[in-house]
Amino acid sequence: MPVDVSPVVLEPIPATQDRQYDFAAIFGNRNPVELELGVGKGRFLIQQAEQRPDVNFVGVEWASRYFRLVAERAAKRGLANFRILRDDASHVTRHSIAPQSLHVLHVYFPDPWPKARHLKRRLINELFARQAAQTLVDGGRVCLATDHEDYAQQMEAVFNAAPEFKQVSRAIGEDAPEGVTNWEVKFRQQGRTMHKFEYRRLPRT
Ligand SMILES: C[S@@+](CC[C@H](N)C(=O)[O-])C[C@H]1O[C@@H](n2cnc3c(N)ncnc32)[C@H](O)[C@@H]1O
Repeated sequence: MPVDVSPVVLEPIPATQDRQYDFAAIFGNRNPVELELGVGKGRFLIQQAEQRPDVNFVGVEWASRYFRLVAERAAKRGLANFRILRDDASHVTRHSIAPQSLHVLHVYFPDPWPKARHLKRRLINELFARQAAQTLVDGGRVCLATDHEDYAQQMEAVFNAAPEFKQVSRAIGEDAPEGVTNWEVKFRQQGRTMHKFEYRRLPRT
């Protein structure tokens, strides 16, 4: 029997509309909001939503197959503090998130786009750091992970150079705490090196 996914699905805001999500209205409370870009099969975010009912979680996923899978999993669990959105991560961070509306921004194993001619497609760049700074509350955090060394260097270079952020955690290889995203589990089994970084949004002056 098909699952009614409507309770957990957020409608994308079209590019033609000049508005942003009102999370307090969407969730019916003013609890902190954490957003994950590129959730894949959603293991991390669904687990978080189950364990922390006083926090609201929003996932963004471009691939319809994963989006649907995550929506069904969350709907089956009846998670009132979870929403999933099928949209492009860059579009969402640039246009759809109100200033100072996020407590944590999670980005785990974003596509590395290793070919030189595709580098500009990477999600984490200077513009992304500026948008993250705008959407996070003071003291909010950005949590990043990748198995791709060159992308790890780019992530650090971008956020270390951003005046709104301070690096609060840097863990590579065996020092990296074990995470639960589907890709992390897979990459660890393949013996790949984890790179994990956390940045704090400094208070606005
Ligand atoms: C390597 S997987 C990592 C998934 C998950 N974060 C994890 O660690 O298990 C990258 C995910 O990002 C999604 N993705 C790629 N480009 C995207 C975009 N522009 N907007 C939103 N999601 C995207 C992919 O469909 C895929 O699910």
